[in-house]
Amino acid sequence: QTIYLKDYAPTPYRIVSVELDFKILEDSTRVRTQLTIEPREQTAPGTPLVLDGDELKLDSIAVDGAPLVLSAYVSDANSLTLMEPPHRRFVLETEVTLNPAANTKLMGLYRSSGTWCTQCEPEGFRRITYYLDRPDVLAPFKVRMSAPRAVAPVLLANGNLVESGDAGEGMHFAVWEDPFLKPAYLFALVAGDLGSITDSFTTMSGRKVDLGIYCTHGKEDECLYAMDSLKRSMAWDERRFGREYDLDVFNIVAVSDFNFGAMENKGLNIFNDRLVFAKPETATDANYHGIERVIAHEYFHNWTGNRITCRDWFQLCLKEGLTVFRDQEFTSDERSRPVQRIHDVQNLRTSQFPEDGGPLAHPPRPDQYREINNFYTTTVYEKGAEIVRMLATLLGEAGFRKATDLYFERHDGDATTIEAFIKVFEDSSGRDLSQFSTWYLQAGTPQVNVSDNYDAASQTYTLTLSQKVEPTPGEATKKPLVIPVRFGLIGPNGSPMGWSKVSGGTVEDDLILLDTESVTLTFAGVANKPVPSLFRGFSAPVKVTSNLGQEDLLFLARHDSDPFNRWDALQTAATTLIANAALGTAWSAGEVDALRQALVDTLENPDLDPAYKAQAIDIPADTVVGRHIGKDVNPDAVAAARKDLVTALVGPVAEKLEAIYHGLAVSGPYSPDAAQAGSRSLRNGLLGLLTTGSDRGAELADRQYNDATNMTERYAAMAISARNWTPGAPALLGDFRTRFAGDPLVFDKWLTASAQATDDGVIERMRATLAAPDFPRTNPNRLRSLLGSFAMTNPVQFTRADGLGFRFITEAIVDIDKVNPQVASRILTGFRILPTLEQSRRTAGIEALQALKDQHKLSRNVGEILDRILAG
Ligand code: ARG
Ligand code: ZN
Repeated sequence: QTIYLKDYAPTPYRIVSVELDFKILEDSTRVRTQLTIEPREQTAPGTPLVLDGDELKLDSIAVDGAPLVLSAYVSDANSLTLMEPPHRRFVLETEVTLNPAANTKLMGLYRSSGTWCTQCEPEGFRRITYYLDRPDVLAPFKVRMSAPRAVAPVLLANGNLVESGDAGEGMHFAVWEDPFLKPAYLFALVAGDLGSITDSFTTMSGRKVDLGIYCTHGKEDECLYAMDSLKRSMAWDERRFGREYDLDVFNIVAVSDFNFGAMENKGLNIFNDRLVFAKPETATDANYHGIERVIAHEYFHNWTGNRITCRDWFQLCLKEGLTVFRDQEFTSDERSRPVQRIHDVQNLRTSQFPEDGGPLAHPPRPDQYREINNFYTTTVYEKGAEIVRMLATLLGEAGFRKATDLYFERHDGDATTIEAFIKVFEDSSGRDLSQFSTWYLQAGTPQVNVSDNYDAASQTYTLTLSQKVEPTPGEATKKPLVIPVRFGLIGPNGSPMGWSKVSGGTVEDDLILLDTESVTLTFAGVANKPVPSLFRGFSAPVKVTSNLGQEDLLFLARHDSDPFNRWDALQTAATTLIANAALGTAWSAGEVDALRQALVDTLENPDLDPAYKAQAIDIPADTVVGRHIGKDVNPDAVAAARKDLVTALVGPVAEKLEAIYHGLAVSGPYSPDAAQAGSRSLRNGLLGLLTTGSDRGAELADRQYNDATNMTERYAAMAISARNWTPGAPALLGDFRTRFAGDPLVFDKWLTASAQATDDGVIERMRATLAAPDFPRTNPNRLRSLLGSFAMTNPVQFTRADGLGFRFITEAIVDIDKVNPQVASRILTGFRILPTLEQSRRTAGIEALQALKDQHKLSRNVGEILDRILAG
């Protein structure tokens, strides 16, 4: 059954207030709910009230204190209908009993390592009580909870603690009240035996906020970086967006079983513990970076998501795109802006572009879905952030801040829409953004084609840009988008090239607006033939093809004043060589020499920091090259071409690279700061090149693994060895597994590295891992680390023509789907690669999917993804 945006209508009844009473016992939880409800003005008397439920069983029901007769209501697992509710304000009281320990879907109230916790976004609250479980129903919540003191000394919920005490018979209770109106998806409750660290933050108006992070006992020290990140986020949101925190408490709880990264419940964020815990011996620099980002992300939701929420789930991008933009900006300000930009674009290209160019493509604001959980996608999140970034580019810094100020002022307390968001930008800037809003409504990555010409006689330079979006499922024809192209022209000596006059299109300072299918700009008074630098800072989420050759690209890599484009030029140069070679056109020695020289010059440039250099020498992954080729891809050929190119690049300079590698060793105590992390990432990047492209790397990797004093060094050495399947790889994997036995988050790293091995034994080893009796088959992190990593990042083995890789995944999905459909459907999305593959692999993949569909009863989550991939 499909849900359509066009069918949106407000509920006939409002919920005025909510009182919940949880009695938590070892084997069951009883939930008593009192909802104060009233009809809306337009509602006709006798209109039924339909509340949502999911796997609920009603124990009792009363209206204004009087039990309801059987004929007055209908209840089943999915709904509770009052046939003729009073046509006035009334109190509906219901009671249900839950079994949180049996809730393996991890939606609603469940138990994770003994702790009771909740996840309600998007539709989990209906698994706790019958309710109008949709984001446009806002109410104040008061929660009483009681639990055995010995098992659950800590009792938390949203808002402020207003009362607590003894409840007799070994039980104790707490009452939490949240004064802010909220939709049910922001509800949260935690009960358990947890340790904590506390701190405080004084807001810009001088209010003191108590901060707490709760975790498994013994892990307190590992929460300090998260706490530091939280305080920096709070200060940053005041500075950059004028946003102050609004409650007296802000709590975070880390749990081990969680369907995704984290959740922004009002005043009580719940986190996947992999995004909280960090110590140098077990967490990598990338983990620290991730913790900082996600702590910030969830905190920023307090304004973009909670104070202003979504009217319906089609508007998810309203809160997610904007909040991702905010967390990206935070990290850019806290660390290095160019490095962060490159990082974010790399992520966009490796995950969002494949989604947008395949069978699962959908607009950032979709208008239909079968299962909303399938729409928490990289398109909604990351492309959504790119759209906000383009608004910031179009309006300029001051204009953007003016717009967001108006957004917070106009919509505080609202459940609103993308349309209203755009309207704010229009009203504050006076710009017409109607065409711009197509970005939200249309799927697919635009392809921008560039060609240029210089006429020396007239000193005229012409630049033609044209845009095109390939059809995507359900969208045969596409409209032209408003594409901001930040640009510069570079003269032969590498310095910026001016012009006297430009005609033929809209150019505002250094911004070209490409808003029709094609524009041709004519620049007059251009003294020499320039090289164009386009899409500086990646000013729009598009793919670019141009008539620039390798020489022009390497010229840009050397001279562009825009650090992003310097990086991108190297990437494009390398991608092109690998892709052509995979398709049978070998590179020339001169091309490789030139690329090598550009890489070495970058490495030796004293003005560039190591983190940036690490990104510059990062030769594009197989998956990126595969996307570039686009169709009939043979991943074996891509992998071989990539290895050949790295070998050719490294060969003559291996010694030099090794010397640089040794020179980068960080001495002194570990710090996760950007500077140290940058040195380590460059060092690991060099280790990767040396291992793929020379016979020196394997041994270096062994040594680095054994000498490592932190996880960043150790993990990189193991992962590089595994990916290249060096002679030492099996021993390193073996050592790692026993060395860190008993640490589940480190086990995830082992699973990921194991899944990326490219040798033919990898599937058999994974089967054995998965079949081991002690493999935690209900934990999302474990499953994603093994199966998700394999399907997403090991194209050589996953897409084998004999179908072994595909079937390994589909067979695992059958089991996982019965336990946790969200995790199963997410892993299945790896099959979106099928349309890009050569015939034999494609056929094998389709057969595996067809067998999955024909032979099993599947969840709505998996069913939807499966059908979309098979149709696409
Ligand atoms: N709102 C949460 C966040 O962005 C994530 C919720 C994800 N929900 C889901 N069903 N996948 O931080
Ligand atoms: Zn979010």
